[in-house]
Amino acid sequence: MCGIIGYVGQRPLKEILLNGLKRLEYRGYDSAGIAVQHDGSVSMVKVKGKIRHLERRIASMDLSGTVGIAHTRWATHGEPSDVNAHPHTGCGRRLAIVHNGIIENYQSLRTLLLGRGHKFITETDTEVMAHLVEEHLDDEHNHSLEEAVRLALLEVDGTYGIAVIDARHPGMLVAARRGSPLVLGIGKEDYFIGSDTAAFAEHTRDIIHLNDDELAVLTTDGYVVKTLQDERLNPEVEKITWELDQIEKGGFDHFMLKEIHEQSQTVQDAMRGRVRPESVEVKLGGLQDHQELLVQAKRIIFTSCGTSWHASLIGRRLIEDFVRVPVEVEYASEFRYAQPIFTPDTLLITVSQSGETADTLAALQLAREEGGPALGVVNVVGSTIARETDAGVYLHAGPEIGVASTKAFTSQVTVLGLIALLMARLRGTLSKKKCKGILAEMIRLPGKIRQILDSSDDIERLAEHFDGAGNALYLGRGYSFPVALEGALKLKEISYIHAEGYPAAEMKHGPIALIDDDMPVVILAPGDHIYDKVVSNIEEIRARKGRILAVATEGNDSIAELADWVVYVPKTLDCFYPLLTVIPLQLLAYYVAVRRGCDIDQPRNLAKSVTVE
Ligand code: AGP
Repeated sequence: MCGIIGYVGQRPLKEILLNGLKRLEYRGYDSAGIAVQHDGSVSMVKVKGKIRHLERRIASMDLSGTVGIAHTRWATHGEPSDVNAHPHTGCGRRLAIVHNGIIENYQSLRTLLLGRGHKFITETDTEVMAHLVEEHLDDEHNHSLEEAVRLALLEVDGTYGIAVIDARHPGMLVAARRGSPLVLGIGKEDYFIGSDTAAFAEHTRDIIHLNDDELAVLTTDGYVVKTLQDERLNPEVEKITWELDQIEKGGFDHFMLKEIHEQSQTVQDAMRGRVRPESVEVKLGGLQDHQELLVQAKRIIFTSCGTSWHASLIGRRLIEDFVRVPVEVEYASEFRYAQPIFTPDTLLITVSQSGETADTLAALQLAREEGGPALGVVNVVGSTIARETDAGVYLHAGPEIGVASTKAFTSQVTVLGLIALLMARLRGTLSKKKCKGILAEMIRLPGKIRQILDSSDDIERLAEHFDGAGNALYLGRGYSFPVALEGALKLKEISYIHAEGYPAAEMKHGPIALIDDDMPVVILAPGDHIYDKVVSNIEEIRARKGRILAVATEGNDSIAELADWVVYVPKTLDCFYPLLTVIPLQLLAYYVAVRRGCDIDQPRNLAKSVTVE
């Protein structure tokens, strides 16, 4: 997704802006650009391609100054090109603006501005805002940059996170947000703006999250935060809670591999301070003052996207098994345009790693309009979804940089298990003894995950069997069906091999026609209550010469006679097998993609956080 970094201060401007963009590379982009205000003018350079191309282009340029902005673009309106890259400017070339989000009414504004003599040079929606701000700067009212930006934004429908500089306002940067995240960084004598804290975390840990319809003015003398209605605010300065090296690779070849290997730690962190098996207690601070929502809910709706949707499917089974409340799981992109039925005792739970996914946020806002209570299960602290729900539980998984989500998935499932157990305890649907046993097993999971990760070489060797594969099938039943979906998504999104997750028993209703000796089949076969049925499915596939990789429980020697290859995981409770069986599938996708020479951390066409429709 697009990235923004802005700076006001005396430090080397070009270096701060370029390094800030590099910290945001993981978000996925197709072009990059920079603008600096100095000596009564604005210099702007932008290129299609990677930041290193921009760096080469400006290497010999004098871009000194005290204020500048920079941007990485993930195209939404207008193809990736030099001219469509941000920043954008108006007719007079005296201002520069960078923008994340989508201007819904840009066509009508463009027509209006063309009618008033403006000339456009790009296909982007963002350029419209540049001309609007320019109009308010150039009219007879002698508006300040802050006033011009505010007036322009009052004409805009849609979402934005913007940063603006202008030749006639030396040392000043104006930023504003609606629906696309922006964070201020408060230095000792300088100030930053970023689409996320990674852009400037090496310079300051003091941050302010801008809320929707808020605007910030940064100058070398300080900063001001206001509403779009010009009301001055006094926002709390928060601290960044994670260390910078958490966004470095830590010796691994890719962020994705690092994050796969972090999972014994991150699953533990998801439980830290929240699980007390001896007292059979689950303590979720974020829900402490909202437990009535857990007790009163007669119907629960999960809404999420992608991997988070797969985690939600597991959350559904956990809650239905432990709490005996009906649960529905909705794709947010579908839910937001449906006409869902909310009753006062319907509880919405949004699951999102980034907390900024546009579809999930829109689904949440739909529920809020209906007056429904909503919880968030989110990783990014202070993200929009986290702030727009009534309450929630953070994953504490640290920044997830790899576009393919891995540690967030296992942390989401862990947190959803804690929420299910807390609900069960509050509603008395699980005996103390049963709950104690579940919690006792839960705290053993990080060690079991570590055990699987320690045998990752075995999985690396299996990747060669996918050489040349054009398709793959992932099969599972019960708690393992969402894991089959997740394993298939991992393979698809980083190796570009088409893979389909399917309920194992559904094979006979059509997909079994696909089975032949060219089709690798990955089947989840843990020693759970439905294992014998899965064995029948394996037999059906063998009879049709399918090549089978089974994920099974250690000690199960018989499955080695049925499958071509077997990866073992430690024994656990049925409900916790997803936290173990997903690890080999993550590693398999990773090693297959490495063998295919794919871009592991920034797969083609994908972005880490899809903040547009
Ligand atoms: C998962 O590997 C993908 N990157 C994608 O499906 C992702 O899970 C989805 O976009 C939802 O993102 P979120 O969890 O940040 O809302």
